[in-house]
Formats: sequence, structure tokens, C-alpha cells
Amino acid sequence: MERLELTAPCNFALEAILSREIKELGYEISKVEDGRVSFFADEAGICKANLWLRTAERVLIKIAEFHAETYEELFQNTKKIKWHEWIPKDAEFPVARASSIKSKLFSPSDIQAIVKKAVVESLKSKHKLEWFPESGAKYPINVFINKDRVIIYLDTSGVSLHKRGYREIGSEAPIKETLAAAMISLTPWREDRLLVDPFCGSGTIAIEAALMGLNIAPGLKRDFVSEGWSYSDKQVWSRERKEAEAKIRSDVKLKIQGYDIDESVLKIARKNAALAGVAEHIHFQKRDVRELSSGDSYGFIVTNPPYGERLEDRKSVEQLYKAMGTAFSKLSTWSFYIITAHEEFERLFGKRADKKRKLYNGMMKTDLYQYYGPKPPRRNE
Ligand SMILES: C[S@@+](CC[C@H](N)C(=O)[O-])C[C@H]1O[C@@H](n2cnc3c(N)ncnc32)[C@H](O)[C@@H]1O
Repeated sequence: MERLELTAPCNFALEAILSREIKELGYEISKVEDGRVSFFADEAGICKANLWLRTAERVLIKIAEFHAETYEELFQNTKKIKWHEWIPKDAEFPVARASSIKSKLFSPSDIQAIVKKAVVESLKSKHKLEWFPESGAKYPINVFINKDRVIIYLDTSGVSLHKRGYREIGSEAPIKETLAAAMISLTPWREDRLLVDPFCGSGTIAIEAALMGLNIAPGLKRDFVSEGWSYSDKQVWSRERKEAEAKIRSDVKLKIQGYDIDESVLKIARKNAALAGVAEHIHFQKRDVRELSSGDSYGFIVTNPPYGERLEDRKSVEQLYKAMGTAFSKLSTWSFYIITAHEEFERLFGKRADKKRKLYNGMMKTDLYQYYGPKPPRRNE
């Protein structure tokens, strides 16, 4: 594959973090829009992006872009694409996703149906087939329409990238892995510093921090749909996986702690950490946030407490935020990064944040309240 334009969709408000990640992989950004970052890459870039991007939801190849205001225009322009160069005879080619913003064509299911029909028509003549068994590898097609500009993509990831392959067992209200990674990226935490999540639940924040601290590519434990494509170079995939393995740091021992009041979620957290290969770097323990204390003078709290969205939980969450304020005040030289949708958080916690940053937890608007502690003295001073 020659030079390609790839697009990585992400949670709203994570575009800057994702752009930085893409640049760190060595690729040139072509466009940043709400919830998506595009960049130029070669085939190795598809592998690298899938394996390494911590805040992207998937990696898409841009196949075509055109204007369409009617279904007929959508059909004709989609049919014009040289689909046979992308989709072999036996491929399964679902139009897996369609979204539309401020456009005349707005019904995702109709867009999906029209695009599917156009792809079939285009393939019929080239593959000399009337009917496609769709029994082979999967080539998911995505359609994105913004102000009547249609972009057609092939999805190289398949299962969304926040599914790293370590969270096999569910727990209530886990934070998305991509958002947890973004929260950590927004702190100056480094692998030689202490990080605590006092509401750790299934351990996502602690595990994502461990993956970052050990330089483990988040996609190393899973596969990607494009690995099975007829034209994907297995050697490139294998080389990129080997390179990622070689980059894992074995010279560091992390200091990450996860606490929760609920022993059953801690069991899940321990299992998840083991599946992620970071169990020895995280200490999980049952503890009420009210009893939080530490002998360390400096550290980071990065956490996702309950939000109290349900009316019946609101009072107890408000009490909890007050208790957090008391417990955290004993750690006056630490830095805190707390995500919540509760608008009264600062008042209840008893301190104004140094900085507030809007983030989306799924569809929920939240803020990351950032409290900066002083920099610790250099170790050799
Ligand atoms: C929103 S969930 C955290 C989810 C976590 N980030 C994850 O990815 O699984 C909030 C967690 O706070 C815990 N919790 C509630 N009250 C607590 C308290 N007083 N002390 C410690 N943990 C508490 C709950 O058991 C729950 O696991």
C-alpha cells in the first residue's frame, strides 16, 4: 500500500492528546476535527497506529470523499469507487457504521443500505459475480457525512481500540480505557512517581498508567481486523509486534496503588491487571477513601469517583465528596486529577481546582478537576 490518509476517531475533547500521540509515532497530521484526527501514513502506520494509540477508538483508511445531497448522488459516487481493489470476492463487507452531521442525508440505516447496494453493484461487474458469499475476512466500511461531504472509510481495527483485551470481566461503571489513558496523559506523572486511584473499581486507570509506565503498546494483547486482509503484509505486522515487544521496559518497577471500598470489584481489578501483564506493578487493596493516607510526601491521585447521577445516590455522593476533601487535605503536597459530572464538585470538595478541563465520559459531559501540588525536589539534590 502506498501513502494513505488515515483517520482516527476519538472521544470529543481528546483530539489534542491524540494528535500528540500520532506525532510521537512519527506521522504528519493532515486534519484535526471534532472527534477525529487524520494523518498520512504507510502500511506500517496502520499497524503502529492500531498497536500504539491509547486514545483513538479505531483507525480508518480514507477511500473516497465526495459531495452528496441525495441518495442517488450517494449511490452513484460510492459505485464509482474501485471497490475491487479493496474488497476481494469472498470478503464480508458490512457497512458497519454511518454517521451524519448537519447534512441532508441523515438516516444512518438508509445511508448504510445505499452504500452497501452501491458497493455490491460496483463489485458485481469487476468480480463477475451476481451474489457474494461474504464468507471470508471482514472489511468493515464506515461512512461519515458532515455538511453533505461524504467520506468513505475502511475500518482497519474492527473491534474498537478501547477494548485492549485485558478487561474480560465486567464491573459497574468502568471508565473507558481510552479516557483513562487520556486522563493520565494530562498529568505530568512519570514511571518513577507514585500514582493512586482511591476509587479504582475494575482498575482501568491504574492499569492504563502501568501500560504507559512500562511502555507497553495497548494493542499488543489483541488482534485487528485488517491483519486478515488479503493485501495486508503479514511480515509488516509481525515486525511491528516484535518491535513493540522489544520496547517494553523491564528496568522499572512502578508504584501504583488502587483502592476501593468494594472487595468484589477489587477481585476483577486484580484479574484485569494480570491479563494486562501488569499485576506486579499495582497494589490493590480494600480501603474507604475516608481512610486514605500515605507515608509518601509526593504523589498523584487520578480518579473517577461515583458521580451520583441517580437522584437517590446524590446525597451520599455529596457526603463522599466532602469526605474526599478532608482526606485529600492531608496530602497537601500531592496533585489530584478528579473526573466527575457533578457540577458542585469544587464546593463539596472544599477547594477550587487550579484548572478544569471538559471531557466526555461516553455521552456524559464531565470535567477533570486538576489540583497541582508542588514539584518534588530532584532525587540527587
Ligand atoms: C465510577 S466507579 C470507578 C470505576 C473505575 N474507574 C473503573 O474503571 O472500573 C466508582 C467506584 O468507587 C467505589 N467507592 C464508592 N464509595 C467509596 C468509598 N467511600 N471509598 C472507596 N471507594 C468507594 C465504588 O465501589 C466504585 O467501584
